[in-house]
Amino acid sequence: MTEDTDYEVDPENLPRRAPRKPLGPPSVVVDDLHITYRVFGARRGGTAQERKSLWDKAVSLGRPDTGPITHVPAVRGVSFVAHHGESIGILGTNGSGKSTLLRAAAGLLPPTSGRVYTSAEPELLGVNAALMPRLTGERNIVVGGLALGLNAKEVRENVPAVADFAELGDFLYLPMSSYSSGMASRLRFAISTIRTPEILMIDEALATGDASFRKKSTRRIEEIREQAGTVFFVSHSLASVRAMCTRALWIEKGKLVADGDVDEVADAYHAFVEGRTDASSGAKLR
Ligand SMILES: Nc1ncnc2c1ncn2[C@@H]1O[C@H](COP(=O)(O)OP(=O)(O)O)[C@@H](O)[C@H]1O
Ligand SMILES: [Mg+2]
Repeated sequence: MTEDTDYEVDPENLPRRAPRKPLGPPSVVVDDLHITYRVFGARRGGTAQERKSLWDKAVSLGRPDTGPITHVPAVRGVSFVAHHGESIGILGTNGSGKSTLLRAAAGLLPPTSGRVYTSAEPELLGVNAALMPRLTGERNIVVGGLALGLNAKEVRENVPAVADFAELGDFLYLPMSSYSSGMASRLRFAISTIRTPEILMIDEALATGDASFRKKSTRRIEEIREQAGTVFFVSHSLASVRAMCTRALWIEKGKLVADGDVDEVADAYHAFVEGRTDASSGAKLR
């Protein structure tokens, strides 16, 4: 379980987060959110019909048999309110529901039940951000910029700065399929932050950067937060979460275990992954 924690980043190398400022108005409100995935065709003993619920049987009446359906409850009753000017780390072991929570908060996954309200369309920067491998870095910057709502002139003006931030060098004119994963992740970050988003969600997208790029991107995130944006940050590096965030949510098996000051929640989570406590230790931090 400790593989979830990465101690490689020396906290001393990361800029300290700014002192806490008064919070702005709410930017993201998540109210009793449940997300259950329905996985079709999973086989784990028993026949298809035996393991289908009555509802599933009714829904699939008259349709070709899709095989058994497994329900995966990935997020189970999570509620929180995020404010402008906050950067919030999301902690939790693998498979605890962090990515699902962010995707739902970004409006990419419909809630199974519960609600999500946002003050602006969140920008989700994930490991799978839609860059096109057959296009050059330059074309991806153009397409990404247009997708973010910049006009053609603004995009053209931004290409050199984005390429420079991502440290692409001559690779700018080569297809992205030739990029190293670090290069691709730097480009993804640079494109997503061309325009200062009101709500930025980062799902492990900085993991592959080297120390100097991490420093640079940390600074950029700080800038976004200062411009009264909200930043959500999922990372395997507890040190980065501590350096970058003011608050942390800890989810385990889809449930919110703790929500509070980043250092307190990170300490409790750390004790948990080290096997010193169980997840109930987070409960008092809510
Ligand atoms: N597309 C999907 N279909 C079915 N189950 C999924 C899907 N994505 C994630 N899950 C499951 O949902 C749970 C939460 O996953 P995820 O949100 O990716 O967690 P984390 O990001 O914390 O590792 C896991 O049990 C995972 O296997
Ligand atoms: Mg994930």
